[in-house]
Amino acid sequence: MNRKTVAVLPGDGIGPEVLDAALPVIEALGLPLDLEFGDIGWECWRAEGNPVPDRTWDLIGRSDAVLLGATTSKPRREALAELAPELRESAPQYLSPIIQLRQRLDLFANLRPVENYLGGGTPYRFCVVRENTEGLYAGLDWNHVPDGMWPLVAEHPNVRRSGRPGSTAGIRLQTSHGLDRILRFAFETARAHGHERVTLADKPNVLRQSSAYVLERLEAIAADYPEIPFEVLNVDAVALWMARRPERFGVIVAENMFGDILSDLGGGVMGGLGLAPSANIGEKGNYFEPVHGSAPAMAGRGRANPAAAFLTIGLMLEHLGLQDAAGSIQDAVRHVTRRRDRVTYDLGGSATTTEAAQAVLDACREVPQAPTAAIVTIGDELLRGDLEDSNAGNASRMLGERGVPVRVRHTIGDDEATIADAIRPSIGRDDVIVVMGGLGPTSDDVTRSAVARALARPLEHREEAWQGVVERLTRFGVAIHDDNRRQALFAEGADLLPNPNGTAWGCRAEAQGSTVVMLPGPPRECLPMLAAVLRDGLPHLPEPPEVTCVFRRTLGIIEADAAALVDELVRDSGVPVKPAYHWHYPYVDIRLGCPPEAADDLAGRLDAALADHLVTDRDRTAVQELAVLLDARGLVLDLDDRLTDGVFAAELARERDTSDGAGALGVALSGVRQGGDGTSYTGTIALTCTVRDTTGEPTAPHTGEHPHEHTYELTIPNRGPEVTTYCAQFAAWSLVRHLTGRHPKPMEESA
Ligand code: IPM
Ligand code: MN
Repeated sequence: MNRKTVAVLPGDGIGPEVLDAALPVIEALGLPLDLEFGDIGWECWRAEGNPVPDRTWDLIGRSDAVLLGATTSKPRREALAELAPELRESAPQYLSPIIQLRQRLDLFANLRPVENYLGGGTPYRFCVVRENTEGLYAGLDWNHVPDGMWPLVAEHPNVRRSGRPGSTAGIRLQTSHGLDRILRFAFETARAHGHERVTLADKPNVLRQSSAYVLERLEAIAADYPEIPFEVLNVDAVALWMARRPERFGVIVAENMFGDILSDLGGGVMGGLGLAPSANIGEKGNYFEPVHGSAPAMAGRGRANPAAAFLTIGLMLEHLGLQDAAGSIQDAVRHVTRRRDRVTYDLGGSATTTEAAQAVLDACREVPQAPTAAIVTIGDELLRGDLEDSNAGNASRMLGERGVPVRVRHTIGDDEATIADAIRPSIGRDDVIVVMGGLGPTSDDVTRSAVARALARPLEHREEAWQGVVERLTRFGVAIHDDNRRQALFAEGADLLPNPNGTAWGCRAEAQGSTVVMLPGPPRECLPMLAAVLRDGLPHLPEPPEVTCVFRRTLGIIEADAAALVDELVRDSGVPVKPAYHWHYPYVDIRLGCPPEAADDLAGRLDAALADHLVTDRDRTAVQELAVLLDARGLVLDLDDRLTDGVFAAELARERDTSDGAGALGVALSGVRQGGDGTSYTGTIALTCTVRDTTGEPTAPHTGEHPHEHTYELTIPNRGPEVTTYCAQFAAWSLVRHLTGRHPKPMEESA
């Protein structure tokens, strides 16, 4: 393809930052476009008395497309006040740059697509085609009714009371030239984008004459598009239905002001102007612009959502004949907005403009995003607590092992609307949605209708499932009730999942990129069925990456400090690592999921970073580790333990296989409380454990008074009686370190 020139006009406010963030997509997709940057907007007005300087018009004139960031418009008085002093003399009029572009280039069609980018709920995709050159924007707008018009309005009762100086007027101008081309554009758009119908949003019940003419033109143009149905609705009703049932619309065509209002409403329906792109198109030119405007209060803060800018670039690419690239950008935006992993504040995230843009760029380059799952377990008995919800945990584990970690889990009673409400937001957002329970034959089991409702599909009878039910009941000599027929009802078009262990079959259905899996509640029925789906039924999901888990149990360090150390070493390691922390008094466990080949190196770094706190690399307590060592070496303790009042000795005895040994280790455990006592949860306790080892050669260097002695110390928060547990584990840990040669450093060295 020939290279095309794009005039990029970043403009004001957040315009430059959203374009900066989104423009790299052009290079990422390797598109044959040359970008030329130009000036437009408020700075041009202030300095030059013209928000669209001549050089910018020249640039526009030699470009194939114009990409605009945003421009600021201010009311007349403010505009004049900000003008450079030397320009005030000539008193130029500020005219919004976009209005100038629309008028001078005769950009009659303003296309504003609306789509369910956030996923969840019913999918919808429609667009507002707004007339851009006439209607109330025709410039026929008067403060004081002009002479020629006066006779027309003078008799209005309110005008009689207000007089001429107190009356204003504007004209909704519509012409056959203007109407025919916008209506034709609407039908062409419906055809090109596969929209099912064209809706004219007008006001025929009040603006009876002009609306009748518009309808006349609509019928004339529609005759050329016999395959596309059309309708006329009052604009207020369109507003209502757009909010209530956006999926009923295809192309909504409207005159300028109605279209202006409806397209902002469309932005609201889809979750904010941060997702709203626009194309302004005419015979002689075009410009493409996010609908959000310059948002001066937000400028320079890195908060603006770049999605609208990406989608706007997509519209531009489509116009330039680069349909595939446009499609990739839309897919990438959909992908990111549905997951909402890396999105800006307006979509509930905390990503900056650049981070959110990077997510879209990654998705364009098909850098895979981690898949996610949702689980919905159903049954009043789960909510009452009569039955432990073991399915949720088991399904989580199975999905996690398949490389589809669970993002959200709901437990819902047997209520159809609530179940459907829980499923809906995951459709189009989670890769797998597992719904379990509520498939029995009785009327209080409503899951099958809830799933159908969430999928917006009717229920249908499935003979093969029915035969399965009949066969099974007959085999067990159970009478068949009419109610059993319910168990053969499934959302239309679903794939059935036979149940080898029960009558309730399950099903799976694909919707907006999500696989919805519906399963019966009894664990021995649903878990094997889920295993089969995970094994054979998710070919569209990548195989889970191989992950090794490096495990370390630590003592004497708080979770946040451990996390800070880990963060640093993960950063330095240069491999993808997923850390997880688990605090269970008195331990903090650290698990680092990493690629198998990186595990050794990572473990080495972790041990070095945590050297002073390391207890074990196994899921054992220090007391358990000590018991193993003492058993292996045939040792007993000569214990001075008033601190734990025998708790340490008792715990140790429980873990040991034998109670005797040849050698004895002298152990003195003591603690000094500061600012608290054995009943209060305040202050600290300084623990000391001195190990005197006469079983072998003296170990140098020693830290106690005696050549065979090592002293271990730790100061911990005083948690009253609970601290006893800590003391016992500390004593055991000290002994483990002693026996494995991990002695503390002598005083002078550690100072
Ligand atoms: C839009 C804007 C403009 C309009 C303003 C800024 C002139 O609201 O593009 O929708 O009313 O057309
Ligand atoms: Mn607007």
